[in-house]
Amino acid sequence: MNTPNETTRRDFIKTSALAGTAIAASPFLAPQAKSAEVRLKGDKIRIGHIGCGSVSGSYLPVMTKHPKVEVVSVCDIIPERAKKRAEQFKVPNVYPNIDEMLAGAEFDFLINTTSMPSHYPVNKKALEAGKHVWSEKPMALEVSKGQELIALAKQKGVGFWAAPNCVTSPQFEFMAKTIASGRIGKVTAAHGTYGHGGPTWSAWFYQKGGGSLYDLGVYNVTTLTGLLGPVTEVVGMTDKVYDTRKVDDKGVIKVESDENTMLIMRHQSGVLSHVQTGFGYFDGERLAGERKLYSMDVMGTKGVMHLQGWDWSSAGVDLAYEGEAVLETQCKDAWKYEWVGGAAYVCDRLLDGQPSLITPEHGLHVLDVMNACHESQATGQRVKCQTVFPWPLIKAA
Ligand SMILES: NC(=O)c1ccc[n+]([C@@H]2O[C@H](COP(=O)([O-])OP(=O)(O)OC[C@H]3O[C@@H](n4cnc5c(N)ncnc54)[C@H](O)[C@@H]3O)[C@@H](O)[C@H]2O)c1
Repeated sequence: MNTPNETTRRDFIKTSALAGTAIAASPFLAPQAKSAEVRLKGDKIRIGHIGCGSVSGSYLPVMTKHPKVEVVSVCDIIPERAKKRAEQFKVPNVYPNIDEMLAGAEFDFLINTTSMPSHYPVNKKALEAGKHVWSEKPMALEVSKGQELIALAKQKGVGFWAAPNCVTSPQFEFMAKTIASGRIGKVTAAHGTYGHGGPTWSAWFYQKGGGSLYDLGVYNVTTLTGLLGPVTEVVGMTDKVYDTRKVDDKGVIKVESDENTMLIMRHQSGVLSHVQTGFGYFDGERLAGERKLYSMDVMGTKGVMHLQGWDWSSAGVDLAYEGEAVLETQCKDAWKYEWVGGAAYVCDRLLDGQPSLITPEHGLHVLDVMNACHESQATGQRVKCQTVFPWPLIKAA
């Protein structure tokens, strides 16, 4: 017999589904509020992981070590990749497509690390089958498709979230609380940057549905909207750097997606912010000594903040403000989840019943902003955003 704090697997699946409902169906739920009573003892969340390419090699070590998670299946349309991951991480079941995985060994939670054009169809099938879903970014390629997935998750009573997870870092929390405290005055402007020479392994990064904004700029758009709130309008310019690229899976291919991108956002709060991202950046620079690259700057009327390192792997926040005008490094705390821990983070929220800082509405808004940038490039116009998300994510201390 179960004590009040113990659940059978069937009870757990029922209560965790309710938690998913609470999170997904309450877009205006304050993150501080408790979302649902979900407790688990002596049982695990069963994971099906689809997409066994590059990033699965970073996800699987995290998920297979998680004490309350059991990775039951791996799947890839290139079956050798799934077999290799199964052997590497001792996963018992291997499938060549989503349909066979859904019809095979039971699982509760899908991790989707397929290529971007496959995100929507794979997410849709898993949600239709009543699975909780963690998707790599973006959740879909079109805003209407993302809206459809969020509605489907609500209808099925399951959780749905998309990477990245940078709003769960201690440095994000520190910056959000610093802004809310008024210490740097009225925030007027912000800047984020993330780029490198471009992935070398898969062609889809350079084809329709790929590109540096969806792959890299997405981190900065998530952090800046997370800190400064929803965006009302966007101006963007994108460009290619090369006509062709040589990649491991397809040889020489034509470049069709953005490799050099500038995105300007006007936030509802009145702040103007900017993201610079690309696949055409020299990435061999090395910084001497303790100095760390700043990837993000937030400017206020009474102070400034600079984020050390990338927003998905930060070493601290340098802060200066009126009365303390010398930059000093704050918040050097290690991040429990790191960039690859988004799925572990939402599993933990399903298990402890606490609301997630990562919400599907935020992921959808980020997609809306990125697509507005592409539309601005295509039309030469300033483009209005169609969506909002529950904000602020973190309130003042
Ligand atoms: N590689 C990284 O370091 C990294 C880091 C963070 C996020 N991401 C994100 O993770 C996702 C995957 O990136 P990647 O670098 O691992 O790509 P990848 O090309 O190495 O791997 C993608 C895998 O998905 C498989 N796949 C595609 N469609 C499928 C389908 N319908 N069903 C089953 N399998 C399918 C492919 O065969 C491939 O093995 C992307 O959204 C990317 O932006 C990658």
